[in-house]
Amino acid sequence: MGFDAHPRSSLIVALDFDSLSSAVKFASKISDLVGMFKIGKQLFTAAGPEVVRQVAALGPGVFLDLKYHDIPNTVAGAVLSASAITGVQLVNIHALGGSAMMAAAVQAVNAVTAMGEDRPRLLAVTILTSMDQKAMREVGISGLPQDRVVKLARLAKKAGVDGVVASVQEARAIRKACGADFLIVTPGVRPAEKTEPGKKSSIKKDDQSRTATPTEAIKAGADFVVVGRPILTAADPRVTAQEIVDEIAAAK
Ligand code: C5P
Repeated sequence: MGFDAHPRSSLIVALDFDSLSSAVKFASKISDLVGMFKIGKQLFTAAGPEVVRQVAALGPGVFLDLKYHDIPNTVAGAVLSASAITGVQLVNIHALGGSAMMAAAVQAVNAVTAMGEDRPRLLAVTILTSMDQKAMREVGISGLPQDRVVKLARLAKKAGVDGVVASVQEARAIRKACGADFLIVTPGVRPAEKTEPGKKSSIKKDDQSRTATPTEAIKAGADFVVVGRPILTAADPRVTAQEIVDEIAAAK
């Protein structure tokens, strides 16, 4: 599968809705301005594969963000089922499931290619950005989050995974460790708020503790940025989406 070179292809909009109708209604308003839509656990659990099909029918691809983590055989089956839904371009797993689980998932996405179809790319989540060092230690993971993230990204690459979901703060180190072809998808991206001259510029963070602008994300080596609330709650989502695409274009 080739991702087209237009800057809009780097923008993934998180469809964090609780029903098929609200997600599809919103997605249809901005579908010509974005590269992909992300469908996560809430929407998929409520609406199932049908929402993926309806969103994909609008044009952009779908990042099915279900973060599989189970025994290798079960994850392979889930990845195979996800890959078989038309329009899915990105699927993901937890790197903490281990090498055997990741390798089984890689085999599953490759099996789709063998059937002669475009295969989705497989991403790994390393350490959830909601976990700090204390939370990691509680579950027996030692070291600094950043070091562990890079080690897990290397492990994912070795297993044949195509890329990772990571914070912008981690993107540079991952790019250095895993090379130019490894995909890096960064959530927690917020456009810089436009402020009156003389006023301090501020970025609305919602519940994200570490955020970055689209420019910072692209400069740090991200291939894709994931943006949810800044577009979902914008007064004019089309204007905000276009501003983000323009910012990506200028940063590339
Ligand atoms: O609204 P907001 O832009 O914060 O949405 C970001 C999206 O990316 C949400 O769907 C969220 O679940 C997801 N995400 C994240 N941080 C991660 C991984 C995924 O915010 N580390």
